[in-house]
Amino acid sequence: MQPKVVIFVDYSLLWLDWRKKSELPEYTKRIVGRPATRQGKAALRELLSGLKAMGSEPEECGKGETRPAIHLTEHPGSDEKATIRRCCDGLEILGSGRGLLYGAFHLLRRLALGDSFPEWESSPAYPIRMLDHWDNADGSIERGYAGHSFFFNGKPVCSERTRDYARLLASCGLNGCCINNVNVHGSALMLLTGGYQRELKRISSTLAEYGVSLWISVSFSSPIELGGLQTADPLDPAVQQWWKDTSARLFAEIPNLAGFLVKADSEGRPGPHTYGRTQAEGANMLAEAIEPFGGKLLWRCFVYNCTQDWRDTKTDRARAQCDHFAPLDGKFRENVYLQIKNGPVDFQIREPVSPLLGHLEHTNSMIEFQIAQEYTGQQRHVCYLVPMFKEILDFHLEHKPERDKVSENISAACAVSNTGDDFNWTGHDLAAANLFGFGLLSWDPTADPAEIAAEWSVLTFGDDPMVTETVTGILMRSRNVYEKYTVPLGIGWMCVPGNHYGPSPEGYEYDRWGTYHRATHKEIGVERGPGGTGFTEQYSTGLAAKYASIEDCPEELLLFFHRLPYDHPMKDGRTLLQRIYDDHFEGYEEAKGLSDAWDRLGGRLDPAVYDRVRDRFREQLRCAAEWRDVINTWLYRLTLIPDEKGRRIYP
Ligand code: GCU
Repeated sequence: MQPKVVIFVDYSLLWLDWRKKSELPEYTKRIVGRPATRQGKAALRELLSGLKAMGSEPEECGKGETRPAIHLTEHPGSDEKATIRRCCDGLEILGSGRGLLYGAFHLLRRLALGDSFPEWESSPAYPIRMLDHWDNADGSIERGYAGHSFFFNGKPVCSERTRDYARLLASCGLNGCCINNVNVHGSALMLLTGGYQRELKRISSTLAEYGVSLWISVSFSSPIELGGLQTADPLDPAVQQWWKDTSARLFAEIPNLAGFLVKADSEGRPGPHTYGRTQAEGANMLAEAIEPFGGKLLWRCFVYNCTQDWRDTKTDRARAQCDHFAPLDGKFRENVYLQIKNGPVDFQIREPVSPLLGHLEHTNSMIEFQIAQEYTGQQRHVCYLVPMFKEILDFHLEHKPERDKVSENISAACAVSNTGDDFNWTGHDLAAANLFGFGLLSWDPTADPAEIAAEWSVLTFGDDPMVTETVTGILMRSRNVYEKYTVPLGIGWMCVPGNHYGPSPEGYEYDRWGTYHRATHKEIGVERGPGGTGFTEQYSTGLAAKYASIEDCPEELLLFFHRLPYDHPMKDGRTLLQRIYDDHFEGYEEAKGLSDAWDRLGGRLDPAVYDRVRDRFREQLRCAAEWRDVINTWLYRLTLIPDEKGRRIYP
């Protein structure tokens, strides 16, 4: 007898760990069709192994098969569109190789959810849907909360995990990833020219099998750092030639390379401003160099003054993106995508939508979300961000009568990745819902975050209705709970400088980062209306008026836009300060409610998962109490106004 080969992997397969189903439709016993492309073949493989794990033993049948079956029909050229339709008592999946792959994953997911004949015809909303890894070449991850990089350990690595990562991405509709940090330093610089081409090629080819394109972050000053030139001036012919030659070599060696991501003139990174050139001149020079190879350039708009004097009350960091980029609309080449953070500042738990998203009529834009929970609990707190992403994508910019929503104005979507080499990929088991949900939403921005959460829960934890209901409930409430016990009403920051975890209300107050609340014993916040920094004027007329008016401004953003006295009356009659006290006390209690709900799942889940999440909830509650007490105490000490309800504050 042959010994059984057991392949040991030290990580879970998240939602791809298909479970046995008691009943599967008859057609799952047969698969007809032999795709020719690598992606089509991967689709067939996924169906064979996925169905087997669910309890069917599909056989591969010839074309003449008359019994119910899954028919795979590969059409070259239909891009990413996937179709699943009924066919001779079974189903037919039609598409290009990539279409078949998305169709196969969709079918497996629907079967796992108990849907026997899922008909589907779908194309993704955006051609670029990707994760940005902030992985460094030494294996560390900037803002990484789930272990080390699985892409680098001193140099790029390609392993079985790379393949499973690509499977995870494809299974939720993602088609790209940028493997290295936007802050390019150390040997990551050499991804462009150095001795890593063999490793890069392997990674790229493994990703390609699942329709995932490879992107790399590059440093704008590479011509100096790597090419030995004296300058990186984008208008210098030698610099231009260096980029052309370097790109030609790289794209020739790595066929699945989609392009470059650049953080320029941002937080100390080099960029065109050094040479008195515009952002467009910088981006276009690079875009031209990669254009002959079909390359695309993702150019970040996170450009602001990070050496602000805190005494300077005129400069408003929130204005920076629009001030720099709105006047340049239409000046970028066709293969440039401006990558814009979802809010004007930096991935806070509550920010208005970035006004820049409404100013780019003639330029490709890409929204940048962050599923790495840098400011939202660092994957130690549960914070399901998909409802927030959905709110942003559904937001009306009010610049034009039609196709005015953010989702209709962007051409691409990305998120800063929350993965690492932890067993469960995302540190907190529930944080994987953000990865899954971001994928599904970037394929179809009309998808419903609650349905995504429920689907993710069934795929991850099985179909026990109590588990699904509880997990969905925890996820759906988590963002508001986190918001209530942390930073009030859109004011942002107040976190520990540097690592951004836990409360420090004045941590950034006398620093250079442009993130101030300027609280006194009477008032708090920065006035951003026309009488203040004028930031509201960057929105369309209607929105500008709404945000500028204290009465009309949405309450959850009140302190983002306005400087107000603590006795400012809120809509429900409470004072501003009382509302903040209440939110903090309630936020903690609600976090306790989420934790208790999880506790009631004992015995219904894999004990290891159950315990891991319980441990995270303990830390979340410890930290939530800290936030509650620090923020409330700080405000009490500043104002000497007591909590109306006499709850515990530390005078
Ligand atoms: C934030 C984050 C940095 C990151 C930067 C960026 O400031 O704290 O770690 O480099 O965003 O988006 O570039």
